[in-house]
Amino acid sequence: MAMQTIPRLPVRSESHIVLNLVSQNDAQRLREFFLEAGFEEGNLRKRGYFNELPSSRLRNMPRLLDSTSDPNLLNVLLRWFWIGVPQDASRTAEFLPPWFTTLALSCGLLRKDEDGERIVPEVMFFPAEGFLVTADHTTKIDANDPELVLWPNPTSRFLSRFTVRRPSRATLDLGTGNAIQALSAAAHSEHVVATDLNPRAVNFAQFTARLNGKENIEALLGDGFAPVAGRKFDLIVSNPPFFISPSGRYLFCDNPMDLDQLCRQFVKDAPNYLEEDGYFQLLCEWAEVRGQSWQERVGEWLEGSGCDAWLIKGHTQDPAEYAQHRIAETAAGTRNDAELYANYMAYYRERKVEAIHDGIIAMHRRSGHNWTQIEELSELPKDPFGEFVQLVFSARDFLQSHAADAEMLVVKPRLAPYCRLEQFFQPGEGRWQPTSLNLRLLKGFAFFIGLQAPVAGFLNGCDGTRTVGELIQDFARQVDAPFEQVQKECLGIIRKLIERGFLLV
Ligand SMILES: C[S@@+](CC[C@H](N)C(=O)[O-])C[C@H]1O[C@@H](n2cnc3c(N)ncnc32)[C@H](O)[C@@H]1O
Repeated sequence: MAMQTIPRLPVRSESHIVLNLVSQNDAQRLREFFLEAGFEEGNLRKRGYFNELPSSRLRNMPRLLDSTSDPNLLNVLLRWFWIGVPQDASRTAEFLPPWFTTLALSCGLLRKDEDGERIVPEVMFFPAEGFLVTADHTTKIDANDPELVLWPNPTSRFLSRFTVRRPSRATLDLGTGNAIQALSAAAHSEHVVATDLNPRAVNFAQFTARLNGKENIEALLGDGFAPVAGRKFDLIVSNPPFFISPSGRYLFCDNPMDLDQLCRQFVKDAPNYLEEDGYFQLLCEWAEVRGQSWQERVGEWLEGSGCDAWLIKGHTQDPAEYAQHRIAETAAGTRNDAELYANYMAYYRERKVEAIHDGIIAMHRRSGHNWTQIEELSELPKDPFGEFVQLVFSARDFLQSHAADAEMLVVKPRLAPYCRLEQFFQPGEGRWQPTSLNLRLLKGFAFFIGLQAPVAGFLNGCDGTRTVGELIQDFARQVDAPFEQVQKECLGIIRKLIERGFLLV
């Protein structure tokens, strides 16, 4: 099928609020004010605010209003900047210093209603990863606004955990939205460019960068890589609009090209903007189309990139279940669900979509013979795992540069301190019978590998002081097998364990 772009709704930014940039001093005053009032992640989490975001669909407004009914400063801030309801100017004035209201009104965070008696919040402040992030209120999802600026959500946190966090001269956050990736990257990057096709997102990103004292973030408007033409980066991260839907309506989530083609386009373009040794990391979804395996489809995305590439598939949904979930997430309840669902299903049927997969891609620009690894992992780390992503890439580079046995025999590997040997037993014949013996990683990727007991003993010698050759010599003396065979098998195991990060080199 020919690739087609679904026409977007016209950008309506003129009718939307614009945040005016505050001075660096005022930004600092604002953020300290919120922090001192207790408007920060730990405190809000403790009070249960993150368990369920304000939502008209969940009908949690009465409960949230009740929980913020005590007259105090934090509750005033929560009602405006978390829940998103107007409040009487006279009530709020009791708790707020005049400078705050004047500043918030002048920069567009607040506005007065027509009679001037109530003050209306224009944005949500979402505390995340130690930052105060500006986004649209969660309740605005029902307004069907194509230019909604989404708050940090589980996919944002996931990309953040996945990101390789080493010093970077220049980082690009492609599709910055609420700017959370740019903010985190600012700590380990000399310069960050945050781009978005949504002018409201660019405006919010500029404001959020200043509010959080990150003066090394530059926010630019434009489609894909166009705003950074001719520039190169050590790190590019992207949480793009990857929903596979018949509509290109929502900038924040709908892949506007046929099926998954925007993600493909980003993957195809990214290497041109990477410095040698730079990383590109993307969250994505892709369609599995009848007659083509999912691996073939994404394999084509990664071909000829000039990068080493690792794609990890996560969950799979069938089109019907996927359509239902996406409709529930994006379409307001008043719309005709049956019609929407029929639209989605017709779109998938026409294109012979049999499944929709999600996953992550990491690409590392490297001259030479590149490798591609496409695999499925049922579990991904719950803690930040960028350093382990980097470890996997370095391990594969190492294996490639030590392809000859003679090169591997002089290496002195050591077991990762966070690997554990597990022995399982099962009941039998009146005693516990040993069954499997597994080597497992407790940090990073939850890789594990089954071992024979003698091999476990052999690995015990891998403490970084002895060469692989010496270890094999010793081991061969203990087993009853020809030396060549022992060496071949040991080298195979060593290579596998280096590749998966059990052995460090
Ligand atoms: C899912 S949001 C991600 C926001 C944020 N980076 C995060 O991780 O939470 C995707 C963002 O990509 C932007 N976007 C959509 N199409 C784009 C395009 N063609 N080029 C650049 N940005 C785009 C949207 O406006 C939206 O802000």
